[in-house]
Amino acid sequence: MTDWAAHRAEFPALSTQTYLNTAAGAPMSRAAAAAARQYYEATERDGDVHWDAWLERVEAVRTMVAALLTANPGEIAFVQNASAAMTLVAARLRGRGDVLLVRGDFPSVTYPWMVAGHGVVFAEPGEHGGAGFEALERALTPATRIVSIGLVNYRTGYRYDLRALGKFCRERDLLLVVDATQGLGAVRVDLSHGDVDFLVSSGYKWLASGYGFGLLYVAREHLSSSAHTAAGWRSARDPYALVSDQLDLSDHARALELGHPPFAAVLGLGAALEMVQAIGSDAIENRVLHLSSRLRQVMEDAGLRMPPADPADRRSGIVYAEAGVDAVRLRNELLASGVYVSARGDGIRCSTHFYNDENDLERLREALDSVPGLRGAEG
Ligand SMILES: Cc1ncc(COP(=O)(O)O)c(C=O)c1O
Repeated sequence: MTDWAAHRAEFPALSTQTYLNTAAGAPMSRAAAAAARQYYEATERDGDVHWDAWLERVEAVRTMVAALLTANPGEIAFVQNASAAMTLVAARLRGRGDVLLVRGDFPSVTYPWMVAGHGVVFAEPGEHGGAGFEALERALTPATRIVSIGLVNYRTGYRYDLRALGKFCRERDLLLVVDATQGLGAVRVDLSHGDVDFLVSSGYKWLASGYGFGLLYVAREHLSSSAHTAAGWRSARDPYALVSDQLDLSDHARALELGHPPFAAVLGLGAALEMVQAIGSDAIENRVLHLSSRLRQVMEDAGLRMPPADPADRRSGIVYAEAGVDAVRLRNELLASGVYVSARGDGIRCSTHFYNDENDLERLREALDSVPGLRGAEG
């Protein structure tokens, strides 16, 4: 039996506020913050003498990330952020065809393709913010060769079926590029089926690892060094040889890190992943989906306008509802009651992670009940 209260106690920020905003950014656990601090404390105390130890730890964390994704460590790179990761992918696939995008997806899922000069087409999403396969099919043109999509929609929380998406792409000879930022760490992301060609993710949300890095997964068949569009000293097959008058690049994803890895951020990620491993991805997903269905009930009871309910395997930790009143005012009213959520468009976006609990939801209910003009706004 998982002791959720014990895991929650590892997040001090949760004892001072009702934190229902992991989709914007998560608090860090004591262990993750301590691991990141370690880097600065040791460098302050000893100077830059721990390179080998840090690098060894980075490789250990790379293996943990690969395990979380059911992928191979050689396919995982630590880059600046998810947007930089998507930009590397778009550059790598320049000239490989047009890109199918979904209207309303997060800008970092779409901009990198436009700025890299790819032709783009947009599929129209349904009310839940996701595009069905008919809508994806309708938007395809003969020139479309790539699909770039957010696994979980950042506003509505709609989650795509990765296996079905992979099948859709395989059957049409399309490359699949996924931004898993709003899902990785909350729901299982299994890359063992070879459905996904490239995946990017940030770490400061559902991985609760703070700002400072992005993850890039490049499926082995796309790792040929001849396709590298950027390189730095650590892109070399033997970085420490420091040969600079000829290129002999590695076909390990590490090559895409270009220079030094973001040590502090990756050390923090390592500690955060130790907690994920201790709890288990299945248990976390079940907890997240249980709490988000309870969350939806609280929001519905309060009179917010809910989009149609999705089946569990299309849901995530994010629940969005139109407010029916000024969304920013509502967000501020809730904040004044110590409840932290986001305003997005005409609505509020609330999100629950494994460290949330029923008391958080009761406090949200009380805060919503105290907002003037909310009930009756549902007409
Ligand atoms: C789907 C998605 N991708 C990427 C990001 C941001 O990633 P980064 O700041 O690491 O580029 C966000 C932030 O909200 C997001 O929701």
